[in-house]
Amino acid sequence: DRLLAAAGIADIRLLARRRAPRLVFDYVDGAAEDEISMARAREAFARVEFRPRILRDVGEVPLTARVLGREISMPLVLGPTGFTRMMHRDGEKAVARAAARAGVPYTLSTMGTTSAPEVTRAAPGGWNWFQLYMARDRGRSRAALDLARDAGMDVLVVTADVPVAGARLRDVRHGLTMPPRLRRRSALGVVRHPAWWFDFLTSEPLTFATMGGSDLAGITNLMFDPGVTFADLEWIRGAWGGPLVVKGVQRVDDAVALAEAGIDGIAVSNHGGRQLDRAATPLELLPQVAEAVGDRAEVYLDGGVRGGADVAAALALGARACFIGRAYLYGLMAAGEPGVDRVLDLVRAELTRTIQLLGGSLDPSVVRLRP
Ligand code: FNR
Repeated sequence: DRLLAAAGIADIRLLARRRAPRLVFDYVDGAAEDEISMARAREAFARVEFRPRILRDVGEVPLTARVLGREISMPLVLGPTGFTRMMHRDGEKAVARAAARAGVPYTLSTMGTTSAPEVTRAAPGGWNWFQLYMARDRGRSRAALDLARDAGMDVLVVTADVPVAGARLRDVRHGLTMPPRLRRRSALGVVRHPAWWFDFLTSEPLTFATMGGSDLAGITNLMFDPGVTFADLEWIRGAWGGPLVVKGVQRVDDAVALAEAGIDGIAVSNHGGRQLDRAATPLELLPQVAEAVGDRAEVYLDGGVRGGADVAAALALGARACFIGRAYLYGLMAAGEPGVDRVLDLVRAELTRTIQLLGGSLDPSVVRLRP
């Protein structure tokens, strides 16, 4: 009922804040350092000005999009997020099933808490992608890629904006550990959110499932290799053998270099503001990247999308599709799988309505960014 009463993602976010302990909610809701990048991503969407065409027949507006050679039901990709079983015990499986039902891709993170075979078994009809953080030990990376490919995943998203972990100050202040531990500091959170803690303590322990279930402790340092370069993309291409998307592109010259290297998709992204704070705002950078890359690669927008009108604006400014992160995690935290369903329904309804109100087509002339 409360889900149905939620009129938008902002309402779902409030439901999530009520259900999850503060340290879990803040892990999702927060960003790096002073959180300026995250605020700017939203502020850029607030500066969108639409120029609707009137008196066009908008009775039927198709939402389908073509991404990497396949048709999806709307121009949306559920991006990779780590530790998803912390948000709700059904975790990655719930998100993958909701994505499959909605006809959009789901991306399992290297930091996922459910293995690739479990995800594809849970959502066999879905289009399931895998996201790679290159490990120092290439053998581990190869094993993770093999596991994902053998499970049926066929698109690889290489995240390139995490040479080292960003500084998430909310997590530091909460003393967040992975997995979260009961501490005196968080005891109040337990009292206030007993249902979450009951679920958490009675579900399968969090493991680092994409690489074979090892413990999370200390794993993040092992995870990220600060020495990864463009040359490693060749290794990855060979080890994967399917379409490659690079996520975390924050400059036009890097985007062009990736397109020239034959990368299939470019996700303009600053990791939702969770890595280098004050990095370029994806929506502002998007038109320049789309223009420079042309049709050599597909360009996606990632960061700050909180509804279908945001998706419409990004598409008009040159994106082929948008990735979302927090939006679906709020739904998962609020209510598990039905919460993710509700988020995707809200995005679809708002996207449909926006395209209709815009006169039926998304091209650069229907939108500008106010200075
Ligand atoms: C992320 N993101 C992320 N990206 C990635 O490539 N691998 C990962 O493991 C994670 N983990 C992760 C956890 C959480 C809790 C969040 C919120 C985000 C980044 C994510 O894919 C995406 O870039 C951002 O979430 C986009 O911004 P919005 O949509 O959250 O504003």
